[in-house]
Amino acid sequence: MATGTLVTYDLIDGAIAVLTFNRPEKMNALSTALLAEFEAHLQTIERDPAVRVVILTGAGGKAFVAGADITEYSQQGFNAFVSYQLNSRRLFDWLEAFPKPTIAAINGYALGGGFEIALCCDVLVVSTSARLGLPEGTLGLSPGGGGTQRLTRAVGRYAAADVLLSGRRLSGQRAYELGLAAEVVEPDALLDAALDKARYMLRIAPLAAREMKRLIRTGPDAALPTGLALEQEVLFRLYNSRDAQEGIAAFVEKRDPRFVGE
Ligand code: COA
Repeated sequence: MATGTLVTYDLIDGAIAVLTFNRPEKMNALSTALLAEFEAHLQTIERDPAVRVVILTGAGGKAFVAGADITEYSQQGFNAFVSYQLNSRRLFDWLEAFPKPTIAAINGYALGGGFEIALCCDVLVVSTSARLGLPEGTLGLSPGGGGTQRLTRAVGRYAAADVLLSGRRLSGQRAYELGLAAEVVEPDALLDAALDKARYMLRIAPLAAREMKRLIRTGPDAALPTGLALEQEVLFRLYNSRDAQEGIAAFVEKRDPRFVGE
């Protein structure tokens, strides 16, 4: 099911949405038009109960996304720049809080906004050819879509400073060693590795996935007693869901559960 041109949408196994940033001649840079298509697809996916997992990847083999469209930057004034930044920040925040698990399958350059999009995903699968960086400083700018904040929370201040203050790119292997990436594979195996992860995620009840995502996201910013209280509150709420009753019954009856997302 291909509905866009700058971001294509394929539905796999009736439940896994694969969104592909598709501007390979410009390293899939985030033009305003591309971001609009991305947003439209996310809206469709959010509303579609059949879609349970989202995979993001880049077309062309060289780039996931090489960041904001620098040509647009060079042609726009301050007001347009501000509105682009506000819009992408809103979109990235929404992606991070998305109610379904998200996987970034990083096949090449993930720079600037491309790395920031990956940092909003739940799981990163990278190829050996991936290169992740936040080179905004080399343009005289700083990240605006969460790079300084999410990378620092993900890998700690020293590893983040090493990336941000040098403009260096992390290899896929290094991203794996830093704990950013769950898996590093050869480029040809990337989509299959991401699909494998997605299929595992289909075993998790939708409400449970949504609640665990929220706990994982908010946990690091909360004091431990607060996080633990929130965790227990979530568990008690889930216990009363239809899916938890079904999951427990299915285990006892030695059959696969049929989750309905309620
Ligand atoms: N915005 C707009 N265009 C971009 C782009 C971006 N972020 N990244 C790449 N492109 C364009 C190039 O301008 C080039 O266009 P052209 O063929 O019309 O000249 C095309 O994509 C191919 O890129 P090129 O630089 O020739 O490929 P490369 O393999 O030599 O280098 C990169 C690839 C990604 C390392 C390099 O393009 C790059 O550094 N891009 C900018 C990354 C960046 O600073 N991102 C943060 C933005 S805030």
